[in-house]
Amino acid sequence: MKRLDELVAAKLAQRKEEGTFRSLKTVEGQVDFTSNDYLGFARSLELKRRISDAEKQFSEVGVGSTGSRLLTGNSELAEQVERQVADFHHAQTALIFNSGYDANVGLYSSLGRIAKYIVYDELIHASVHDGMRLSRAELKPFKHNDAESLRSVLSELDGTAVVAVESVYSMDGDLAPLRELAALCKAFDAALIVDEAHAVGLFGEGRGRVSELGLEDEVYARLVTFSKALGCHGAAVLCNDNLRQFLVNHARSLIFSTFTSNHSLLAVKCVYDMLSVCNYSNLNISHLIGLFNQSMKGVSGIRQIGGESPILGVIIAGNAEVRAVAAAMQNDGFDVRPIVSPTVPKGTERIRICLHEFNTEEEVKGLIQSLQKAMANVG
Ligand SMILES: Cc1ncc(COP(=O)(O)O)c(C=O)c1O
Repeated sequence: MKRLDELVAAKLAQRKEEGTFRSLKTVEGQVDFTSNDYLGFARSLELKRRISDAEKQFSEVGVGSTGSRLLTGNSELAEQVERQVADFHHAQTALIFNSGYDANVGLYSSLGRIAKYIVYDELIHASVHDGMRLSRAELKPFKHNDAESLRSVLSELDGTAVVAVESVYSMDGDLAPLRELAALCKAFDAALIVDEAHAVGLFGEGRGRVSELGLEDEVYARLVTFSKALGCHGAAVLCNDNLRQFLVNHARSLIFSTFTSNHSLLAVKCVYDMLSVCNYSNLNISHLIGLFNQSMKGVSGIRQIGGESPILGVIIAGNAEVRAVAAAMQNDGFDVRPIVSPTVPKGTERIRICLHEFNTEEEVKGLIQSLQKAMANVG
């Protein structure tokens, strides 16, 4: 045990030396410009009230699900919520997983045992990488958001391929050219899978970008998470009945894990009830994205990323430099986090800024002033 613990300590020391050491912290009293709670559902009193009403209405359901979905974990409630989610997103079926991470791991590890290739955008999320690693497929990256690069990879293949993309990229906040990618996948008979973790609740009146573009029938599967704009927890794969049955039989992250709690299912039910009546024509968050973009135009010497979604960022090369800017902004009362390498490629370290429905114009203006001041001090 002593020898292993020394190795553990050495690994931690290495991280500290490289400036990549991570630690858990709680933040209070700062303005949230970092969480994924884009629409403010995680702090919504209305949602809390609805969940507590639903708890009373469904008083016969227990706390935990008591088992894996294939054993005692399944319930009427689970199936009802899945139908609600599928209908909302214009999908044939939905299969709920305990998290978006579990869903991607289950999806890619199982499909990657029958498909010969998994072709993926080079900036695809870590959970897809972990799923791919558990598969037996040959893994082929293509350049980020580059349809020509995808075409060139697909044209070299001689077997069944799955193509993995995100509709809104989690670290860059940019949008995938889904129409072009879907047309290419169709031409090469590849199965396109779209991770909509950061699009759900925000695009297509909450339904995501696939629905917004009317591509539901061109996409083999979609991942929607309940954990970001919906402020809850868990995820669902939207797909046809064939794939749903396949996942129930082969997705190990579903089969060998106790299914989510009934409380979580009720929360998902309630947030979808609210989403389906949300007034998308008048969201503050859309106004704030415009304000941020406009204000940044007047700021010289800043490399902004994103601009089409609430995920925005400013490149500040170097782990030490980006950490210093984030610390100064936190001191000013703004909760922003530095994204360091190797999470993002060296030289593209950044302050990731997420806007929310509950942020105000004054807060956004204050944030930009604080950013300018911090950057001037770092040099
Ligand atoms: C693109 C993307 N996919 C999947 C996930 C995993 O979702 P969850 O947080 O629900 O596990 C995340 C979360 O960071 C993500 O950004």
